Amino acid sequence: MSRPAARAVPVTDEYVAFCEGVRRLARVDLTQYRRLQMERRVLAFAQRRGKPNLLDYLALLATDPGELDMLLDRITINVSQLWRNPLQWQALAEQVIPELVRSGPLRAWSAGCSYGAEVFTIAAVCREVAPSAAVSVQGSDIDERMIARARLACFSDADMRTVPPRSLERWFERIDGGWQVRPELTALASFAVENLLECAAPRGSYDLIACRNLVIYFTDESRATLHRMLAGALRPGGWLLVGSTERVADAAAHGLELVYPFIYHKS
Ligand SMILES: C[S@@+](CC[C@H](N)C(=O)[O-])C[C@H]1O[C@@H](n2cnc3c(N)ncnc32)[C@H](O)[C@@H]1O
Repeated sequence: MSRPAARAVPVTDEYVAFCEGVRRLARVDLTQYRRLQMERRVLAFAQRRGKPNLLDYLALLATDPGELDMLLDRITINVSQLWRNPLQWQALAEQVIPELVRSGPLRAWSAGCSYGAEVFTIAAVCREVAPSAAVSVQGSDIDERMIARARLACFSDADMRTVPPRSLERWFERIDGGWQVRPELTALASFAVENLLECAAPRGSYDLIACRNLVIYFTDESRATLHRMLAGALRPGGWLLVGSTERVADAAAHGLELVYPFIYHKS
């Protein structure tokens, strides 16, 4: 009986040179992501663009900024939506935010915010729970095109599919082809371009951090670096939200305890 053929794994020496080239062109370090998945995705993308190997594709990237943009779009995966994972927002509204606003102004950070859906969700949920509390929500992402979109505060119908009807009516205005966030929420939000693997967030300065659906392609080492930095950026008593398929490895070592599904408390 013949064995099934081994699955082709596109690990090539060119990959390291390609990563170095992309790091120079875009200041994005692909070696911080899991090589197997990343190499497979980049190679498939290059081949669809008519380039048989990564070095030919790198030569194209060096001369065509539009192509570089498309590659970054592909590899950073910017998918998001408002009220993504609704149960998490319910736990936040019922358990976490009431406690946080009792102890003073609430400072939140959406780390890896893509085009801002998570930032405005946090802002809306805080406002609904505590209409007069002082709240600020900062969003950051490595992809400057996403941050430019976030600053526009406009969302498509698809982005809005899990927004509770009352929240939709209260915080968003119908515009041509989508929805505009009302000024009551945009006033709470600010945005910055930032690589989370290279930033040094001030220690103990946030009450709430959401870092969701971002680490799936990170190496274990990059995940640990990121979670250590995020835990350090939380004040004692603060909260960290992760994605619904994610966990913080060695949470206790960072002073974090899982209290609600995908929501950690910092002791
Ligand atoms: C799938 S989106 C998640 C958006 C939002 N957090 C959510 O859950 O809906 C992942 C985002 O992480 C960003 N990202 C990936 N690597 C990053 C890094 N090293 N630093 C900052 N942002 C990063 C991507 O650009 C992308 O916008």
